[in-house]
Amino acid sequence: MKEKIELLWNEISSATLQNQQDLEAFRIKYLGSKGVVKELFGELKNVPNEAKREVGQLLNTLRNDTEQFYEQWKEKLASSSVSKQSTQDFYRPGNSEQVGSRHPLSMVRSEIIEIFSRIGYTVSEGPEIEDDWHNFSALNFPPEHPARDMQDTFFVEKGEKEMALRTHTSSVQVRVMENSQPPIRTISPGRVYRNEAISARAHCFFHQVEGLYIDKHVSFADLKQTLLYFAKELFGEKAVIRMRPSYFPFTEPSAEVDVSCTICNSKGCNVCKYTGWLEILGCGMVDPNVLEASGIDSKVYSGFAFGMGIERISQLKYKVNDLRLYSENDVRFLKQFTPEM
Ligand code: DAH
Repeated sequence: MKEKIELLWNEISSATLQNQQDLEAFRIKYLGSKGVVKELFGELKNVPNEAKREVGQLLNTLRNDTEQFYEQWKEKLASSSVSKQSTQDFYRPGNSEQVGSRHPLSMVRSEIIEIFSRIGYTVSEGPEIEDDWHNFSALNFPPEHPARDMQDTFFVEKGEKEMALRTHTSSVQVRVMENSQPPIRTISPGRVYRNEAISARAHCFFHQVEGLYIDKHVSFADLKQTLLYFAKELFGEKAVIRMRPSYFPFTEPSAEVDVSCTICNSKGCNVCKYTGWLEILGCGMVDPNVLEASGIDSKVYSGFAFGMGIERISQLKYKVNDLRLYSENDVRFLKQFTPEM
């Protein structure tokens, strides 16, 4: 009996079925009410009592395996007939593929990278979870600076060390200076975090691009020309910039930069609040303390740095005035910025 069961399973498991007729014939032959498996169960009464239990189990296994084998073929034949049908029926409507679209922030980021790469800037990156040194101390933030406050910064625990989500990409300039010697010409795009309530004008995360240029004899005039070049490339040949004195712990002197309003040609509109100017970035000459903290000799080298918000630039280029839209991933929003595909 055991041998019979084994032979039968060999026969069953080597069957190949081509179509629905084969499938039905298989079912009737092996699994039908007058099928081979049922018949074997009928023979169980002739098996000596002491072997009944074992043979019964073998028969159960045989039936289960056969049923499973049948189901597998059923599925296989079903899927192949569907694909056959759909490839042969030329009148069926096609399946439309939803193609994703480029995010306006990544388009602006690429454009900024491209503009600076044309004048020799490389791209560098750093971690989003940052230590106090790279985000604050090395950048000349005094210990009591309000930016270090829980209210502005998200702190995270990582092992023994207290870490923070970086509040700006200026942390990357420290890492670059620690790891290389001048001349340095690099930009660092990335995501930054601040502990702010989410609204149209503020978000708990956004994106920045940091720029850094360190060499011998770098002057404020170089900074000005670099940023003017950038503004013209980004907003068009007619763009001009102005600099207003400002303060950042890591630069001295520091400035904020406005670009002439490209929306109203500086005549005054609600985007530039009738001033004719749009604020686009912060910048300055890297403070000698910052150079020294990162292992660069401030008597030999000088440099400038700048930082801008990608959302801010995108807002000006694409006139999107609600920051929340950038992270909702609504395709109806995103599709507006890429040509129809
Ligand atoms: N880190 C500044 C911020 O988050 C932006 C900035 C200003 C970067 C001046 C700089 C700079 O490199 O020189 O607001």
